[in-house]
Parts: sequence; structure tokens; C-alpha cells
Amino acid sequence: MAAVLDTVRAFFAPSTFTIDMETPADVVARENLLDRTMGADRRAKSSEKIRHNRVPAEGLALVARDSRGHLIGTVRLWNVQAGINSNGDAVDALLLGPLAVDCAHEGKGIGSALMRAALLEAKKRGHGAVLLVGDAAYYERFGFFGDKVRHLVMPGPFARERFLGLELAEGWLDGAAGMLVASGRQLTMPILRRAA
Ligand SMILES: CC(C)(COP(=O)(O)OP(=O)(O)OC[C@H]1O[C@@H](n2cnc3c(N)ncnc32)[C@H](O)[C@@H]1OP(=O)(O)O)[C@@H](O)C(=O)NCCC(=O)NCCS
Repeated sequence: MAAVLDTVRAFFAPSTFTIDMETPADVVARENLLDRTMGADRRAKSSEKIRHNRVPAEGLALVARDSRGHLIGTVRLWNVQAGINSNGDAVDALLLGPLAVDCAHEGKGIGSALMRAALLEAKKRGHGAVLLVGDAAYYERFGFFGDKVRHLVMPGPFARERFLGLELAEGWLDGAAGMLVASGRQLTMPILRRAA
């Protein structure tokens, strides 16, 4: 019943939202939002191998808040090494995800606003490329395509047609080949996985 009321309120509320940096106080609301939008098996994804026990890239964990300050969207980016290039140099990049918006607020441009803010901030911070696993039909509008990552693989099962990349600096992913590996800072207090 509470969910229905939230949906009705959201439908009639003016669609004002702000994009903000995530804070430690957002953890519970963010995890609840991800459970609702991404489903119970969200932690089984290959991207999770890269995120597990790491902190997001500096300045690249963003949230959307409604006019009352409630968290209604989240996006986080992670430092990775995206294989090596033809010179044998490691290719630094970011892995984006999850991006999620509360179902009651979908279609109001919040996902796009989070994406654009995250990409702008990533570029400002000097990152050269962003990779993700997601629906091409959604992410192509931001410039993500499969061709840039065709010689890269995730560290586990993934759908090739959903593996996409965007260069923030032209040619950054030229020749990049190999497996994505986490390269971000580790959590100081590791999260223990629950037994299945
Ligand atoms: C995908 C998601 C983030 C989009 O957020 P949003 O705030 O509704 O997106 P926007 O309002 O910016 O954009 C809405 C547009 O995207 C389209 N869209 C949304 N999800 C889409 C998808 N999976 N494939 C193609 N188009 C999609 C909508 O049809 C709409 O199109 P329109 O502009 O032509 O009307 C949100 O639906 C969500 O959280 N989904 C569940 C979690 C998820 O799948 N995350 C992505 C994988 S990491």
C-alpha cells in the first residue's frame, strides 16, 4: 500500500530533482533502491567482481534527490584497468554502474541527468574512457557503443552485445585488449559475502 501511495504522490508531484554527491548517509536508501530496481541477483553480476570491496572512483558516486531530499537515483563509477594497448601500456578506464532510478520517478530525465553529470565530472577529472554493461538502446544516446570494447572482456560471464564503451579522450581505447581488472582503492573494512 505504501508503495502505491508513493507512486501516486510521485505522479502528481512536480518533477524537480537535484544531482548531488553521494554521502555515507545515503548507503541504506541507495541499497534499498538497488534491491527494488535491479532485482535480487544484482550481486551475481560480473561487474560486481570489480566493485566488490572497492570504493567508487573519487568524486564519481552521484545521487538524485527529490525536492524533500530523498534519494531517487544513483550512479557510481569504478576505476579499472581495461587491458593493455598495442604499446603494451595498461589502459586506465572507469566502469559505470549501477545506474538506477526509483520506478516511481522513471521517464522524468533523472537517469539522463545522472549520466550526463557523471560523464562531465569524469572528463573534468581527466579520465579517458567509460565502460558499462547495459541496454545499448538506452546507452547509445550518451555515445556508448560496442566497437570500442570489442577486444575487452569482463571478468566472468557477460553478454557481448551489452558491453559498451565511450571515449572521453579520442583514441583512448585504441587497441585496448584483455580482461577488465579492478584498480580502485580497497574498502578498509571489507564486506563479507553471505553464504549461498
Ligand atoms: C534505465 C533507467 C536508469 C532509466 O532512468 P530514467 O530516469 O527513467 O531515464 P530517462 O528519463 O533519462 O530516460 C527515459 C527514456 O529512456 C528510455 N529507456 C529507459 N530504459 C530503457 C532501456 N532499458 N532501453 C531503452 N530505452 C530505455 C525510455 O523509454 C525513455 O525514452 P524517451 O526519452 O524516448 O521517452 C531506469 O529505468 C532504471 O533504473 N531501470 C532499472 C535499472 C536498470 O536497468 N539500470 C540500467 C542497467 S545498469
